[in-house]
Amino acid sequence: MRFVKASAPGNLFFAGEHAVVYGYPGIIAAIGKRTYCIASERTDSKVLIDSKEFGKASGVLESATVTSREGKKELMPLFNLIEILAKKHEIKKGLELKIESEIAIESGMSSSTAVLSAILCSVNELLGLGIEKKEYFDYLYPLQVEIHGGKASGSEIISSSIGGYHRIRKIEKKGKARLTWKSLGEHSFSVVIGNTRVRAPTMLTVKHHVPSLMKRFPGVVEQAFERVAVICNKMEKALAEEDVELLGILMNENQRLLAELGLSHPKLDDCINEALKAGALGAKLSGGGWGGAMFALVREGDEQKVAKAIESTGAEAIITTIGGAGARCE
Ligand code: MEV
Repeated sequence: MRFVKASAPGNLFFAGEHAVVYGYPGIIAAIGKRTYCIASERTDSKVLIDSKEFGKASGVLESATVTSREGKKELMPLFNLIEILAKKHEIKKGLELKIESEIAIESGMSSSTAVLSAILCSVNELLGLGIEKKEYFDYLYPLQVEIHGGKASGSEIISSSIGGYHRIRKIEKKGKARLTWKSLGEHSFSVVIGNTRVRAPTMLTVKHHVPSLMKRFPGVVEQAFERVAVICNKMEKALAEEDVELLGILMNENQRLLAELGLSHPKLDDCINEALKAGALGAKLSGGGWGGAMFALVREGDEQKVAKAIESTGAEAIITTIGGAGARCE
């Protein structure tokens, strides 16, 4: 049986989560933790998913629709991706997808985007569909919107497919979204991620919390997002100059704004405070907030010290690289 193994990375926001959903800029980078997918062809029309986290799921591909679906609801968007691919590329035969991830789910490291990108990459190669990385957004954006509860920036798709560091901006015209992105070069910074172990579905804040703030306090949110945009501009310059001290200060500023908008969490604050006390240059939550992950930018050689400080809160510390490869065949 022919098979292709591919992988795609998770991501962290240096600045701009939530603001990016509303057309403000964001700065995002791929991390060294990845999700892997082995895709293989079937001779019948079955679509079988075997996920280490969510177990097995099955369906049948009939006229570009996956029917008779069984399995956990978390795996259903993966069938939806198969449908999108089947419609566009007239796929008639079934597939098997075996998925394994180094990225904790609902942890703020874009585990859902990493799995979708890894599947797209492996199926693309397996069936010779000729999909380019810059087209991943068109395939995955509707699924990202669904996963986030009706709104999304799609930033993570660019980061997960292309890798590296990017400045992203969503432009929405007549209900159709497109992204502009700019590569911010190659940098090898040291980061330590803290997974609070508080599972926080992005939908909670993207669908419910931020829109409710926007209704009740539109000026406050707008002002905060305007300040995030200024942070992104300064950050782009700091990245170009590899000014890690300034990068850390800007991360802290963004964290303060996120906390003012009620997006932090006592465990995130705990990890951030301990990381800063241990000498981190900057620390902030990443992603939807209300739990999930934070990360600290540290001087080279300080990784273990900061990791210990994060672990002292009961969180899981992850020392990893940042700004690495996007989706690729293994
Ligand atoms: C979630 O990881 C990041 C958010 O900005 C949502 C999005 O960009 O779609 C909160």
